[in-house]
Amino acid sequence: MGEVTVHALRNVDIDLYAGELLVLLGASGSGKSTLLNILGGLDVASSGSLYYHDLCLHTLDSDGLTEYRRAHVGFVFQFYNLIPSLTARENVKLVTDIAKDPMPADEALQLVGLGDRLDHFPSQMSGGEQQRVAIARGVAKRPNVLLCDEPTGALDAQTGKLVLSVLDRVNRETGTTTAIITHNAAIGMLGDTVVHMSSGEIVERTVNSSRASIQDIEW
Ligand SMILES: Nc1ncnc2c1ncn2[C@@H]1O[C@H](COP(=O)(O)OP(=O)(O)OP(=O)(O)O)[C@@H](O)[C@H]1O
Ligand SMILES: [Mg+2]
Repeated sequence: MGEVTVHALRNVDIDLYAGELLVLLGASGSGKSTLLNILGGLDVASSGSLYYHDLCLHTLDSDGLTEYRRAHVGFVFQFYNLIPSLTARENVKLVTDIAKDPMPADEALQLVGLGDRLDHFPSQMSGGEQQRVAIARGVAKRPNVLLCDEPTGALDAQTGKLVLSVLDRVNRETGTTTAIITHNAAIGMLGDTVVHMSSGEIVERTVNSSRASIQDIEW
């Protein structure tokens, strides 16, 4: 940025294991979103290497990264990014229509507890419901990796808990490797692995011997 060089990430070395739930913690500006965006093929590192199984993501061009995202990655963001003129079902169908072996949109919405909101528009749903539609959209194509950047950031504590319990359950039931960025250190207990970032570096990586259940978390 002008005269100042910002190292959004440096010396990052990380493995994600099939089926695990990873929680990413760190202060604002510590590089969490940058890391998640690189993992998801939305952003590209200026140096270093990144593999999805045998696929060298760092050698792919923009079309190659699009293929990677389409085939393997689901995203959930803080602001749900739903299309306002489409119903819940239609928002999910946008993804399932172009995916290879998706679950039916209705099934994805049932998975997040919205089987009775299929024909609601985003403006007719609460924040937590909209985020659950976004999760349904993220998981409907049965991605191998689900990346969530502050999925509860815009929600009150109660609704945030509900959304996290949905992510936790979807991870357990579908075996989708899941990474969740949060500012709430208590959520770390939910993960198999917790990674702390500071100034672009991973400063701590903790493996939980067992995952806490959502009821045990002191918000
Ligand atoms: N496009 C950009 N150009 C220059 N610097 C950037 C850009 N994007 C991010 N940064 C810088 O990179 C660093 C990491 O940013 P990043 O968005 O990854 O942090 P974060 O941990 O997700 O923060 P937050 O919790 O606030 O979302 C910050 O210092 C930020 O200012
Ligand atoms: Mg961020």
